[in-house]
Parts: sequence; structure tokens; C-alpha cells
Amino acid sequence: MAPLKLIVGNWKMNGLTADSRERAEKLAVAVKGRGNLPFQLILCPPATMVAATAEALRGSVIKCGGQDCHEQSCGAFTGDIAAVMLKDLGCTYVIVGHSERRQHHRETSLQVAAKAKAAHAAGLIAIICVGELDSERSAGQADSVIAGQLKDSIPDTATAENSVIAYEPVWAIGTGKTASSEDIRHMHALIRGKAGKLPILYGGSVKGSNAAEILHIPNVDGVLVGGASLKAEEFLAIAEASGEGK
Ligand code: 13P
Repeated sequence: MAPLKLIVGNWKMNGLTADSRERAEKLAVAVKGRGNLPFQLILCPPATMVAATAEALRGSVIKCGGQDCHEQSCGAFTGDIAAVMLKDLGCTYVIVGHSERRQHHRETSLQVAAKAKAAHAAGLIAIICVGELDSERSAGQADSVIAGQLKDSIPDTATAENSVIAYEPVWAIGTGKTASSEDIRHMHALIRGKAGKLPILYGGSVKGSNAAEILHIPNVDGVLVGGASLKAEEFLAIAEASGEGK
């Protein structure tokens, strides 16, 4: 049987607890009792809503994840959250190195690797994000930027069981512009060559109408979805596209 496509919803900094609970419950009801799903749903709410979301998902096949974690397991780090704390709330996954963290919080690839390592130590699966800027792509540097980010962002503790790579071209995030199928095919093949068996997700303006095409490109093991994951129906439509055309 083909491995399940990973369909990850990154809710970013949106909504309040009641929205999270309602969306998680709606999705849990939608997949309940359905055997042989071709996908694994993973919901990554804002930190304050992780507990309510994980609670709403109790008993469901849908998993919960954090959006970031600190590289240390405890200490004087005001405002930060340790991977073990996410695990404690019922998370299975955590996103690290999202371009919005790299951009707004100046996170480096070496820090991202330390965070992924902390996630592994806490028993979480790290979703390690990489992606080039528009200017880097225009300058013909996309491949070398991604190769460099992969080299420095993947810790030596990473295995195909505890790590996932997410390729999110920065210019495609929240812009409505997706990378072309050819660009995705090319970059995912490059990442496969460097990351071995680690699952590889595509992210950047994924929606119900383009998900089937993207999910059937070789070496695309799933998608990381921002805006379109905020509506249960749209997110589900993306997930259902995993099984289309088989
Ligand atoms: P959008 O799907 O809104 O483009 O966001 C992608 C993303 O950043 C997911 O992590």
C-alpha cells in the first residue's frame, strides 16, 4: 500500500480557542469510521490553542502539532515553548524553521537543526521547512539555497520516522502563486537526493483546486497548507485529492 499523504494544516496566528475546537471537531467527524484513508491529517494550531485542539482530536486518527519549539528543554527563555511541553499537550509533530520564523525572528538553519533535535529528544516528529526567496530564484540560486538550508537544518538525529521536510518557496506563501509542477518536480527530486527517505511536503498557496495536481508529482509526499487550512471543508477537499486519479 502506498504511504499515506501527509496533509498538514498550519493555522499560523489565526482564530481563537472556540474556532480551533470547532474546526478540529468538524474534521474529526468527517474522517471518523472511514477505513483506508489515503491521507494523514495533521493540525498545527497557535500555541494557546494546542490543548483545546488536541483535546478535540482525542480518539481521532487526526494528529496535532506545534508551529515552533525552543531548542532547549527548559530554562530562562521567556515566551518560548519547549518541544516536551508540546508533547505534554498531546502533540505528535512540530513545525521548525518556517520561513516566517526565519524572516521575522532571524532564525538560522543551525538553530532550526537544534530545534529539530530538541523535537526528536521529546519524541516529536519535526517538520523542517526550507524555501528560497523570490530574489534568490530570480538570480538562479534556488537550488543552491535549498541545498544549503538542507545541509544545515537537518540534525544528525533525523530519520524517516522522526522528520519530514517541507519545501515552501517563500514567494508562493500566501500569494496565490504556486510553483509550477515542473519547478516542484525539480526541487523535490533535488531534496530527495539529499534527504533520502524523509517524506517531502510542498507548501505555498495549496488549495482544493490545485491539490490533486501537486499531490501526484513524484516525490511529493504531502502538503503544508496555510490559508486554505482555516476552513474545514477546503482542507478536507485538499486531503481528498490524495486519492484522486488512483
Ligand atoms: P499558504 O497556504 O497560505 O500559502 O501558506 C503556506 C504556508 O506557509 C504553510 O506553512
